[in-house]
Amino acid sequence: MKILLKKGRILDPSSGLDFVGDLLIEDGNIRGVERDIELSEKNITMLDCQGKLIFPGLVDMHVHLREPGEEWKEDIESGTRAALYGGVLRVACMPNTKPVNDSPEVTSYILKRAKEKAWVTVYPISAITKGQEGKELSEFGRLKKAGAIAVSDDGKWVANSALMKRALLYAKNFDLPVISHCEDPFLSFKGQINEGKISAKLGLKGIPSSAETIAVIRDLLLAKETETSVHLAHLSVKENIPFLKWAKEEGIPFTAETCPHYFTLTEKEVEGYNTLAKVNPPLRTEEDIYAIKNALKEGYIEVIASDHAPHSPLEKEVEFELASFGMLGLQFLLPLSFNLVREGVLSELKLLEYMITNPSKILRVTPPSFKEGALAEVIVFDPEEEWKVTEEIIQSKSKNTPLLGKTLKGKVKMIILQKTIYRADT
Ligand code: DOR
Ligand code: ZN
Repeated sequence: MKILLKKGRILDPSSGLDFVGDLLIEDGNIRGVERDIELSEKNITMLDCQGKLIFPGLVDMHVHLREPGEEWKEDIESGTRAALYGGVLRVACMPNTKPVNDSPEVTSYILKRAKEKAWVTVYPISAITKGQEGKELSEFGRLKKAGAIAVSDDGKWVANSALMKRALLYAKNFDLPVISHCEDPFLSFKGQINEGKISAKLGLKGIPSSAETIAVIRDLLLAKETETSVHLAHLSVKENIPFLKWAKEEGIPFTAETCPHYFTLTEKEVEGYNTLAKVNPPLRTEEDIYAIKNALKEGYIEVIASDHAPHSPLEKEVEFELASFGMLGLQFLLPLSFNLVREGVLSELKLLEYMITNPSKILRVTPPSFKEGALAEVIVFDPEEEWKVTEEIIQSKSKNTPLLGKTLKGKVKMIILQKTIYRADT
């Protein structure tokens, strides 16, 4: 069974390929990429890709699938369907489920459910500490054996520095990546939105940038001391950047991530007490957006992930202070990130590096690629097509995004996953 994609712009960050040509898939595997593949056989599915980009599936290392325990918001089936439509063919899911994924039993359960009903590959991330309580380390060796790809207390920072240091050393033994949610809980206590003029105007308690940067600095120091890499999740403020630069110059092992909302939306979105724009870390300012883009350009931040965080009306259609933090991300990841290419911040290949090869390297998995023999994980993307964000288009169970009603540019048209062709067009 052969599928031939014709005349698209082929981009593969694993091999640096960037040219207009054809891609051949045979029996679910990549057979070849060339300027022109002519086949005389009859039994071929031909897909015209003129004007489209063809690249490997994205790897999103920061996703909340909510299963087990909060399936009214999302589950592994609906979350991975949203991923598929977003061009994301592998997701790493955070452990703040109910119960918390801090045991081999929960990790295996997630993998079992993924096997039964996931549309894309699911990599479970287990908790650093039991119950994500920041008191006692979970059992990294047993978690890894059960299939944990990394550890994180995402949603919370491991505020006890001695414990975090031990976590880094312990994780190193098992070659498990450690992902840190950088937020000093004392500084952000009861905070709702970015601390500044808007928080003052709205009468909401602010989350200062120092809550994030203090955590970043501590984690970098611990990474240096333990000679163990730390991955800094969803960075949002400009104050981090000089420290990231310093850490790169010092040769400190670390990687850093941001999310499309931190280089697209500002704190102004929460005016009118819009809970759909309530997220943690909070949306910041134009200056922060400028600095985050610059950090991406300089390579101080080298991963873009969605932090897809579904919540239902039960958690969002409430008073601002009572609303949960988080917004959807999977189906907006590509169109919003592509603005970086349009603005000249990153080239197409660099952007794909940040969304395919870099996260794969951090998670120690072979990235999706167009190397001969690789599994077919292929996205056909139209960078020019505009589409409106509606509840109907959203594949997640939850619809919580401040982008509802807005028009985005760049649309996933087709997904080829092994032998199946999905048309995301309709
Ligand atoms: O906004 C957020 N939502 N930030 C987090 O760190 C956690 C996430 C969630 O689980 O909803
Ligand atoms: Zn987080």
